[in-house]
Amino acid sequence: MQQTPASRLSANRSRLGHKVRYALRHPERVLPYLRRAGRDSLLRLRHRGNHVAYYRAVMASDTARSPEAAVGGGPSRERWLAIGQMQYDYLLGHGLTPRDRMLEIGCGNLRAGWRFIEYLEPGHYYGIDISPDILIEAKKTLVQYGLQARLPHLTPVQDLRLDFLPDAWFTVVHAHSVFSHSPPEVIEECLAHVGRVLAPGGFFDFTFDRTEGAEHRVLGEDFYYRTQTLVRLAEKYGLMARFMDDWERLPHGQSKLRVTHAVAAERLPGAAVEAEVPSVEP
Ligand SMILES: C[S@@+](CC[C@H](N)C(=O)[O-])C[C@H]1O[C@@H](n2cnc3c(N)ncnc32)[C@H](O)[C@@H]1O
Repeated sequence: MQQTPASRLSANRSRLGHKVRYALRHPERVLPYLRRAGRDSLLRLRHRGNHVAYYRAVMASDTARSPEAAVGGGPSRERWLAIGQMQYDYLLGHGLTPRDRMLEIGCGNLRAGWRFIEYLEPGHYYGIDISPDILIEAKKTLVQYGLQARLPHLTPVQDLRLDFLPDAWFTVVHAHSVFSHSPPEVIEECLAHVGRVLAPGGFFDFTFDRTEGAEHRVLGEDFYYRTQTLVRLAEKYGLMARFMDDWERLPHGQSKLRVTHAVAAERLPGAAVEAEVPSVEP
């Protein structure tokens, strides 16, 4: 059941007409948008052609203002907790077990990550992010929740080639609200390499900003994709992508795709760990 309103799915936010109508409906958002647009021009000029460097600078600026707001959903702690809980509940509802080995791409300040770290066996959580600033905040979250003994890995990255990670290791790969800020080449790089680190029977869940109209971007920060574009991109790398209808029922603006090896059978969470690696040491 897909419940996103049709008007949201067909809107092209990059069009002037849309911006004017939006500004008339939300005059209080005009000034913040103009500030963002000014920063966008400056940073795009400084990091011309290098999206990762550009977005890292966006994150540095946003994190300095508010780490909660930097990962989306506004500066409210309640919202930060609620969005983390939503991600956690969803994966638990899909059979996540403490023995799973999770890679979180774009882990931010561990909005969901701290819950996964607490739940998974020690050493079973691996978070990566392009932003050193937000990873410093992630460490603070870890301390705040007293999770040092869970021994999570938190690693800054420059790209999504995942070349420092082992083959067929992760039973769950998770990227929430990361591809909504990623141009096609970043998503393609990830899909080109994620299959190698995905354990047999494992899956890669990611959210994206969905459009059923023309694909578009807002500033260099927000990207809107058609589902089929991402499904085809996954297919190009021997992966199969499935639209997650049950995610649409949750109060979240993005959609979710689940990617598996094209030849994989339906996953039984935890089973991949049992079958492939019987004794995992933290
Ligand atoms: C909106 S935040 C979401 C953070 C976290 N997933 C959550 O739900 O709280 C997006 C995060 O993805 C990171 N990010 C963006 N592009 C990335 C990329 N190409 N590789 C790794 N991390 C990326 C950002 O630095 C930021 O921390």
